[in-house]
Amino acid sequence: MTSDQAGVLWPFITGPGLPPTGAVMGIDQQSGGCFYADPGGWVLDDSIGVTNPNVFVFGKPGRGKSATIKAFATRLMPFGYRTLIAGDPKDEYAPICEALGVEPITVGHGLSARINPLAFGPLGQGWADLPATEARRRVAIVFARWLTLIRGLVGSQRIGEARVPFGPVDEVVVKTALAHLTGHRQGNTVLVETTIPELWRLLDEPTDELVAECRYATTRQFLDETRLLRDALGQLVSGALAGLFDGPTTIDIDWNAPIQSLSLSRLEALGDEAVGIALTCLNSWSRGMRELAAPGDLRVVVRDESWKQLRLGPEAVKSFDADLRLSRRDGDVQVAVAHKPSDLLTAGDAGSQAVAIAKDLLHLADTHILHGQDPPSPTTSTDSSGCRRSNRNSSPAGRCKARDAPCGASETRGTRF
Ligand SMILES: Nc1ncnc2c1ncn2[C@@H]1O[C@H](COP(=O)(O)OP(=O)(O)O)[C@@H](O)[C@H]1O
Ligand SMILES: [Mg+2]
Repeated sequence: MTSDQAGVLWPFITGPGLPPTGAVMGIDQQSGGCFYADPGGWVLDDSIGVTNPNVFVFGKPGRGKSATIKAFATRLMPFGYRTLIAGDPKDEYAPICEALGVEPITVGHGLSARINPLAFGPLGQGWADLPATEARRRVAIVFARWLTLIRGLVGSQRIGEARVPFGPVDEVVVKTALAHLTGHRQGNTVLVETTIPELWRLLDEPTDELVAECRYATTRQFLDETRLLRDALGQLVSGALAGLFDGPTTIDIDWNAPIQSLSLSRLEALGDEAVGIALTCLNSWSRGMRELAAPGDLRVVVRDESWKQLRLGPEAVKSFDADLRLSRRDGDVQVAVAHKPSDLLTAGDAGSQAVAIAKDLLHLADTHILHGQDPPSPTTSTDSSGCRRSNRNSSPAGRCKARDAPCGASETRGTRF
């Protein structure tokens, strides 16, 4: 090439990796230009290797994960995205809510806000007028959501060091009990909302029909073989979170407000495990609430501190996985937070199903934001985030760029900034 073809050459400078659409987030360290985030637009653009708009944010405490999310969510607001903070354990999003004239909903002992994770959500509306096929479809979706939640909640309880198992037999028992409680089993056209204590009570004092339907010879056998399940559910009913997620929902979310936040700060003193369980309930509930969102209702759903849920064992990871996977409604950008990609790999023994699910979980978000990760040690996997090095940009804060972890794998699509 001569000066006939190009007047000026800037060696060692690349063009921006991503097009200038969406929210301005910071400086692209490679080109020196602006870096934009446009998760919805990226999905629609075939030249960008992003097939879902979800974002996983990794970083040690204090690295600026929440600050990045706040910038991301607020800067996407002019583009029509509203925000749902599905659990704010530290009231970090309260100032943004205040600035936007929205009062966060606080969940805690002595407060009036109750959230029933076994609520039907919008899918339960107008049930009586639905054609039979649509009603059956909705029942399947709602029951699957409840079952995943109960699986996550029961599996988060411990017997010594181990987690309480939740096998196919438990699944049949819980599903049948829920069908009885809601009236679905009886073929009712109007289903009744139930709660976790009601489920526990029915399992503790099973009816003859329930015992027979679950294929137990006697009530005694039913009680003996469901003891672990009943005790694990009982813990949730009478444990630290008693009274918060076990009654009918008392809050009414204004989905037209620019932001809505469910504050869990009152639960912080109860410890990470209790907050993790509360997040499990909220995540499932928020998934339900989004099951029938109107077209064009674009939303950033923030699951900050999700590592607290992901530490609750394989069943809780499965529950989180299902919430994220099934929340793939057009227009929702799911944002989840953990400390480091390899955190997820501690969900179970090497090669176990739990680890396989956790690895899969990483692929549910094509965009990974890595804040100051340590270089992988020789004993850890090369790159559990599964991203290539391209599209590497500074965060809006610009404070984590220099400490990004080396990223080895290149075969997976994805965006990192
Ligand atoms: N770019 C920045 N400049 C100055 N302070 C920042 C910046 N980003 C984050 N902070 C501050 O650093 C602290 C930790 O940030 P935070 O987002 O809460 O971290 P994390 O969510 O990773 O624990 C907060 O007090 C936050 O206000
Ligand atoms: Mg944070």
